[in-house]
Amino acid sequence: MGKNVAKAKTTFLFCDGGSCKKANGEMAVREARAHLRNEELWDDTHTIRTRCNGRCEDAPTWIVEPGNFWYKNLTPEKAIEIVDGHTKNNQSIPEYLLFQDGWKNMVSDNERSLKPVVFNRKTDSEYGNVLVSRSSASDQYLYPLFKKLFEHFTGFRITFPNNVEIMISKKHQVEYTDVFDMIVSGEETNFKLAIGPITKVMEKDVAQEIKDRKVGVAEVIWDRENSEYIGYLRLKNRKGKFLMTISIPKSNNDAWNYFLSIYLNMDINKVMNLEF
Ligand code: FES
Repeated sequence: MGKNVAKAKTTFLFCDGGSCKKANGEMAVREARAHLRNEELWDDTHTIRTRCNGRCEDAPTWIVEPGNFWYKNLTPEKAIEIVDGHTKNNQSIPEYLLFQDGWKNMVSDNERSLKPVVFNRKTDSEYGNVLVSRSSASDQYLYPLFKKLFEHFTGFRITFPNNVEIMISKKHQVEYTDVFDMIVSGEETNFKLAIGPITKVMEKDVAQEIKDRKVGVAEVIWDRENSEYIGYLRLKNRKGKFLMTISIPKSNNDAWNYFLSIYLNMDINKVMNLEF
């Protein structure tokens, strides 16, 4: 029989993501679950494994509800204290907390500062003397980018291998329901691009054909001196094989601003005035 969630007063959400696994999170989970059973706390509590909680730097992490208590750097010993605190004493264990409702800031021992995206001046074999920024090739960035570009903007050019160029003047549909492929379809073009993550565990089961067209490298190229095109997004696979380029005309300011402010997460006003 499934869990009677109506009886559960406390819920433990154990992160089961890659970093938490690597940091031995499973040991803390095992101890916590064994403790809940043996202390006859099982029926009054619920335990759920989650995917990454987004705080890998503090792995292993848990969230305890109610109260939005975020725990960091879990060990089997801390696990028991936390379980007892919330179930027997109705109290959190503040020294192990990363965050709780009512706090203004997180208390992390391992805060990583995000590396800012930067443009570097380079002599590119295709575009000459330009500014180049290595950008994200993750589906979390590429899917929103393609969605916005093809469903919202028009007036840009796409180039495929063999120099097939298409000017996009109509809106297209973007779907990402497959495990790997994002599909762009409409009157002017129909293509698929593999953007779904291929993890190490999946690697041997994924067809070579998909790996070959999986985006592994993304670069934003800013050609400030060019009078026709202001910038490009060039996509390649992991081995450097060219997949496609999106070229943004100088007149399409909205699309270019989207690249800078949303895709690259830059402060447009600052970056526009920078000397490179
Ligand atoms: S894997 Fe647990 S927080 Fe990211």
